[in-house]
Amino acid sequence: MRTLKLRDERHIETLLGRMTLTEKLGQLTMMAASHTVTGPVITGHSTDDIRAGRIGNLLNLIGAAAAREMQRIAVEESRLAIPLLIGLDVIHGHRTLFPVPLAEVALFDSEAWALTAREAAREAAADGINMAFAPMLDVSRDPRWGRIVEGPGESPWVGRKLAEAKVRGFQGADLAAADSVAAVAKHFCGYGAVTAGREYASVDVSERTLLEVHVPPFAAAVSCGVAAVMPAFTDLAGIPMTANAHMLRGRLRRELGFEGVLVSDYNSIAELIQHGVAADLVEAAALALRAGVDVDMVSGAYLQGLPPALERGLVSLAEIDESVRRVLALKARLGLFEDPYRRGTVAESAATVTERRRLARDIAARSIVLLTNRDDALPLAAGVRRLALIGPLADAPAEMRGPWWCAAQPDAQVSVLAGMRAALPRSQVLHASGVDIAGDDDSGIAAALEVCDGADAVVLCLGEAATMSGEAASRAHPGLPGRQRELAEAVLQRAGARAIPVIGVLFCGRPLVVPWLAQRAGALLAAWFPGCEAGHALAEILTGRTSPSGRTPVTWPRAVGQIPIYFGHRNTGRPTDPTGPFASRYIDESNEPLFPFGHGLTYGRFTLSNLRLAPERAAASATVEIRVDVANESGRRAEETVFLFARRLQSRVAPPVLELHGVGKIALDPGTRATLTLHLPVAELSSLGPDLAPALEPGVVEILVGPSAERASLLTGHLQVVAA
Ligand code: NOJ
Repeated sequence: MRTLKLRDERHIETLLGRMTLTEKLGQLTMMAASHTVTGPVITGHSTDDIRAGRIGNLLNLIGAAAAREMQRIAVEESRLAIPLLIGLDVIHGHRTLFPVPLAEVALFDSEAWALTAREAAREAAADGINMAFAPMLDVSRDPRWGRIVEGPGESPWVGRKLAEAKVRGFQGADLAAADSVAAVAKHFCGYGAVTAGREYASVDVSERTLLEVHVPPFAAAVSCGVAAVMPAFTDLAGIPMTANAHMLRGRLRRELGFEGVLVSDYNSIAELIQHGVAADLVEAAALALRAGVDVDMVSGAYLQGLPPALERGLVSLAEIDESVRRVLALKARLGLFEDPYRRGTVAESAATVTERRRLARDIAARSIVLLTNRDDALPLAAGVRRLALIGPLADAPAEMRGPWWCAAQPDAQVSVLAGMRAALPRSQVLHASGVDIAGDDDSGIAAALEVCDGADAVVLCLGEAATMSGEAASRAHPGLPGRQRELAEAVLQRAGARAIPVIGVLFCGRPLVVPWLAQRAGALLAAWFPGCEAGHALAEILTGRTSPSGRTPVTWPRAVGQIPIYFGHRNTGRPTDPTGPFASRYIDESNEPLFPFGHGLTYGRFTLSNLRLAPERAAASATVEIRVDVANESGRRAEETVFLFARRLQSRVAPPVLELHGVGKIALDPGTRATLTLHLPVAELSSLGPDLAPALEPGVVEILVGPSAERASLLTGHLQVVAA
């Protein structure tokens, strides 16, 4: 992160010296404009409050002209001329929507992750935004939780890589540049482990799980100089994160060395009262400030509560000043004192916007996961004459946005119908939705079945509405909502009787529990929410112009009762044995997931062989080269993804059965082979000992390489880790 110039430091101290208490608290306050609504309390911001220095930061303001006007009021009409932080949830693009984050994670490509953040930053900055409430880094192993869609999925290793890429992308090489924005790593910490996947519910994970699973992505973000961090809404073992001094001042600031700004989540300081840890706004404000929260998002608790808290001795002026300094330092780093109008002044060219859409299309096509492809039902036959697009998501452009669409217009998305019609101009592409996404009306099923008759293939577009995942969208029944299953079963039966292949396409923000569909559809795709180029991206995959290459970053359960289900579980003393008694298993369901982590088919046919390690004995300072031969035995060019897992065979703490340590990709022409090389720094194999201190234990480590976390698909080698 850019260090402050001496000039900036002096300026900050001069400002601090001149500020009234109200002006200080204004800098610690962020109020919401009403251009988009992202929380239950709609404050509306008052320009008079900006003039008076009572509001020093805004969120949910959309449009360059509006942003410029607010900055103008702040710097030209307020006493101290301090520019505003203007934040927005730039979660998967700003006006141009990329696929939802979980879908983008399916690319397993850090460069792509950085690139979309860079483009989102450029586009948001062109609208006057200087802070993005992203990346969301909450590792989650619970598809009931709607916010699983916003983050890295189940692996902390992926979370770390995602954090690094996104911070780099949003903040660019220079945070002060006109096209850079401050990233906000959120939500610190453990939010992905809410009880029973229920939104906002309590989190109670062990210290070990916290350190092994939930903290590492944030540690990575801090190492890369993330400008800000947002504490989670939730409590951790009873202490709300917004008031959690141990986690915020202790772990985040002292241990991880975070020096940036802590921005509260929306209204979460006032919600300390609901949590039951504060009697009123005064206590709530004091608790949050003392825990290290610098900016109060919308609750007004700092403005109202800190003056009496100061009088009562609950907080000190030094603590307030410390937070004000951090906010002003961020404004300086963003270059706002030099030129408050550097963002949002130059409109982007049409060519830039077109180029960005092209990127969105490419990323969306690469995020789609081919879950099954029975009898090679995909790609569609080249001469397909008549295609039936059935289902409530076939012609639903606005739904393609998924949750968090920010500034994207509903009609800026390409529907599947439009995409397929454009891709197959000489074919008849017919459409019937059959049923709504949710609701009980099944009267359209009969008409949908008629559309299937005589088709060469049926594409069933099913899934969730955009609002069914994201914040406040937990689902106890994460299957197909409404009457979609009835529609799908009727179509499968009718088409089956006529030998018409049925391809299922799932639009969803989470893995859906649909074993019956996976079993019966000719092919099944997870399209997630692909963003603005949805229809074109899907057409690329369905027609075979692009081979699918997405891999699921979360394990798909076959039953809700299996949740949480993830590849990095521990072996137990009585590991799974499908037949034996007294084993760690269900008596009414298999332990196997519907699809393992990393699963995703291509139109190629890959085999992996000849795994070798060099060296085979190594100490902490070494990096092991892991090579594997990859052959594409099909007649189509495709890209294979290869995962590198490790398993410590014996350790003082029961080790996970698989730990992810790397991913490689290789594109091969038909009938060709090549060697893929992965690198494993041995130090990465260190783990937390019984005392929770990191240590590298000597011993044998299994190295497992393959196309997914499915054990049977992995090649195995052995690495002898030796003491230095
Ligand atoms: C609440 C969400 O938890 C957070 O992720 C978001 O950034 C804020 N609202 C602002 O919209």
